[in-house]
Amino acid sequence: MSVVPANIESQRPEIGSPEHRRLLGQFFLDTHVEYAPEQMQWPALTEGELARLRGLPFWQEAVSTENVTSNTVAAAAALETDPLVRRAIALQGFEEMRHARLLVALTSHYRIPVRSPPRFTPRSLESDFLFAGFGECFDSFFAFGLFALARQSGFFPPPLVRVFEPVMQEEARHILFFVNWVKYRRAQLAAWRRPAFRLRCAWIIVRQVASRVKTARSMGRPQAADSGAGENFTLTAHHKLGTEVTLHRLLGLCLTENERRMAEYDARLARPRLVPGIARILLRVLPASI
Ligand SMILES: [Fe+2]
Ligand SMILES: [Fe+2]
Repeated sequence: MSVVPANIESQRPEIGSPEHRRLLGQFFLDTHVEYAPEQMQWPALTEGELARLRGLPFWQEAVSTENVTSNTVAAAAALETDPLVRRAIALQGFEEMRHARLLVALTSHYRIPVRSPPRFTPRSLESDFLFAGFGECFDSFFAFGLFALARQSGFFPPPLVRVFEPVMQEEARHILFFVNWVKYRRAQLAAWRRPAFRLRCAWIIVRQVASRVKTARSMGRPQAADSGAGENFTLTAHHKLGTEVTLHRLLGLCLTENERRMAEYDARLARPRLVPGIARILLRVLPASI
């Protein structure tokens, strides 16, 4: 899958340079994996496995998130004048649409009731792309750990793990592409416009963090049926995965999985640092019993 093994000590190109742009676009195109959700061989599940799958609280939120992300990313390709980077963003849009198609195929195969949301239309190509991208940086990081937990506990039977493994790895590619694109995009701006861009990114990150803090604080409170309990589901789902796990252990697992997944890609690309950095701080300050 990887074009350059991650263990090769190689110099990172200057951010925003033609080499960085080529690396950014080419890595993404070269590591694309072909599959069609409609041809997926869904494994037969036992009644117990089916009930557990149907009981997960986040299917509706997952469908809504993929609807927003896929339409936002597909539209964001128009931001780029460079053909290589534009192709890479368009391909990411295709992959996000494929996640939405995979969810439709899964929920209809296992008869999990979800409503199809109306097609999302982004209002601002750049702001919506930034918002979706930073959101993925948080969601994917937690999803890596949760997925490992579901695999280890046997909550997801191995055939289902094999179906979702490429999706998880695709999300790792997406956030790696996104963090490099943000740096590349900023470097393309005139120097006087960069502080405003940084501020906009910081504001979006604050909103993403605030939304997750709100979810974390509401955990444990009784939820009304239509209270949006599925929101930020990567933060709350560990309670449902059939295993006793502390937040401490989950964060450790997220960090290990994040590193393992990122190690598949070219070591010259900048790595996501913000969310793993927050997780490391939390690991240090939180007692192990939480
Ligand atoms: Fe996705
Ligand atoms: Fe994604």
